[in-house]
Amino acid sequence: MINEKVLDVLNRQMNHEFHSAYHYLAMESYFRVENLQGFAKWARSQYREERGHALRIYDFIHERGCKVTMRPIAEPPHTWDSPLVAIQDSYEEEQQASGMINNLVDIALAERDHATDNFLRWFVERQVEEEADVASIVQKLKLVGDDKYGLFLVDRDLG
Ligand code: FEO
Repeated sequence: MINEKVLDVLNRQMNHEFHSAYHYLAMESYFRVENLQGFAKWARSQYREERGHALRIYDFIHERGCKVTMRPIAEPPHTWDSPLVAIQDSYEEEQQASGMINNLVDIALAERDHATDNFLRWFVERQVEEEADVASIVQKLKLVGDDKYGLFLVDRDLG
């Protein structure tokens, strides 16, 4: 079993992961409409990853003999001013996810829940990779600036 405090934050984290998935799906739609198919493909793959993160937590809660609590998923943005703004938005979302995971680790340790702490290690590592991946796209977009051909090349790379 998981104690109530840890269970509550795990449920909140699962909800945040579903929200991140929803956010990336909204972003995919934005990129598709902008005819940036490489960005759209990247956003779809991020959507799948985030959904996978949520389900990992969902399964873990059950493995520990508890029940999940499904809360409403916050509405994501529908559009962005540019691909750079969209990807920067993702970067902030990833930073927020990392902060939440760190907080969850602190709570699991304070509650002496070593199984949850161990489970969360994968997320800690994954967030380092995710932040780095998104930050590298932000850097590329900053480099190309208003150059349409540069944007075309970044889109092709992501595809
Ligand atoms: Fe699952 Fe990218 O946070």
